[in-house]
Amino acid sequence: MRKNIVAGNWKMNTTLQEGVALAEEVNAAVKATKHNCDVVICVPFTHLATINDKTCRETLGLGAENCADHKSGAYTGEVSAAMVASTGATYVILGHSERRQYYGETSETLREKVALAFENNLTPIFCIGEVLEERENGTYFDVVKKQIVDALFHLSAEDFGKIILAYEPVWAIGTGKTATADQAEDMHAFIRGVIAEKYGNEVADNTSILYGGSCKPSNAKELFAKPDVDGGLIGGASLKCADFMGIVEAFN
Ligand code: 13P
Repeated sequence: MRKNIVAGNWKMNTTLQEGVALAEEVNAAVKATKHNCDVVICVPFTHLATINDKTCRETLGLGAENCADHKSGAYTGEVSAAMVASTGATYVILGHSERRQYYGETSETLREKVALAFENNLTPIFCIGEVLEERENGTYFDVVKKQIVDALFHLSAEDFGKIILAYEPVWAIGTGKTATADQAEDMHAFIRGVIAEKYGNEVADNTSILYGGSCKPSNAKELFAKPDVDGGLIGGASLKCADFMGIVEAFN
């Protein structure tokens, strides 16, 4: 059966020293607390190796927030999937809406990134989600289906089975405006149906689909209680250990 997962996405926050301190705090808290989910932190590239060496082996999964769409070479400033893997990280967030919106990521580049993640044994946490206009004009199911089909449906069932999906309605990210648990469940059930149509029920049932967008201790329990919501991808609330733990404990 699929896993429950709570993953932090630190985005462009914390210096190395602050990030190591936060990871150590989260690691200790997760270790000391009963938790019924996998806990992952996705952190800036600069922090990966140090956090891996100091803390992560104990209780936390560790991931990057992105990787390059090329293997290696003359791409100044880029960080490859192989480099991420060489730090000890085993996850990578791909296709976050901020990358799509500010850095022009397309399904085409994301297909390359997914392939390189797999080549390097990284588990993609693949983000999808509609913008406010698409929510309001009622095209959100079509938009999310197209994001999945275009970037992922060339994969074999075996490879697709290695993906973690994160539904992040863009209008809920960092806005304090969460999707209701019913809105999240409607979309997650729809996504699982789309996967089942292509790959069958077994693959669909085994795919973890996380919710992201203003998830906090106060709403996590209700969201995670929904049958198709398998955890969360947490932005702002992952930067404070107590808030992040409040979300992790929503599975207890
Ligand atoms: P917030 O939790 O800050 O809304 O961010 C969600 C997100 O983008 C996680 O990837």
